[in-house]
Amino acid sequence: MKRLLLPMVLIAFWSCEEEKQEEPDITPPTVSISSHSSGQSVNEIVTITVTTQDNEGISKVEFFIDDSLVLTDTESPYEHEWNTTQYEDNSEHIVKVISYDNSDNSTESQPILLIVDNSSLYDCAGVLYGENICGCTDSTAMNYDSTATFDDESCEYDTVDCTEVETYYTENVAPILESNCTGCHSGPTPTAGLSLDSYTVVFIAIKSGDVLDRVNRDQGSNGFMPNGGTKLSDANLEILQTFFDMECDQ
Ligand code: HEC
Repeated sequence: MKRLLLPMVLIAFWSCEEEKQEEPDITPPTVSISSHSSGQSVNEIVTITVTTQDNEGISKVEFFIDDSLVLTDTESPYEHEWNTTQYEDNSEHIVKVISYDNSDNSTESQPILLIVDNSSLYDCAGVLYGENICGCTDSTAMNYDSTATFDDESCEYDTVDCTEVETYYTENVAPILESNCTGCHSGPTPTAGLSLDSYTVVFIAIKSGDVLDRVNRDQGSNGFMPNGGTKLSDANLEILQTFFDMECDQ
């Protein structure tokens, strides 16, 4: 009995001491994102830096973008190189980190909101890091730019604006047709199925060459127009010719 007592007392004392030494660390680390503040605009590759401290030592820092874990960093300095080019411009993202100490106590940082804006990295053609020169690439256009590598639909052609053509019709062509043609070529059942009383039909009829062909025939000859009438004056024939020559993308 006596022989056993001393070692037991020793063990009890020793284990008590042991417990004292191994008192668990329950102090979590402090952590914050130090490189950015909430609401900031970011682009390209961004380094997110974390400041974290612990009484015992940090084991790792986890980085989250929009709640998904993107990196676990086990070595100081704790930072994440975030490539923002894969995100849409003006999109908002929540960035936060969680720091763990050696006893697995953890602290979540205050989340920050970052706005991705890579618009300056796109060239005029919308290509990331592109070096396009935007302009008119059609050599037949008036403003052809031989150095342009991307057609920005700015090409301009030497054509009359359609509204000008229509105005010319209303002011010059329609009066001629009204006095010489629409008596037969208008209404619900126009002669030969041809109406010559509106811009759209006349434009097509004149462009086809039919009208000019008929009015330029010899008066009284087969197919001459106006049918059974008098040949149009040279001035009026010229007006119809001018209208025929006008170009516009209908
Ligand atoms: C008195 C009635 C009359 C007048 C006025 C008249 N036409 Fe005609 N037009 C006809 C007849 C009938 C035909 C069908 C016979 C033919 O093709 O020659 C016709 C046919 C046409 C055709 C061919 C149509 C087709 O689809 O084949 C054209 C084009 C035309 N006329 C243009 C004119 C023009 C332009 C004028 C005015 C400068 C005019 N006509 C005045 C009676 C007329």
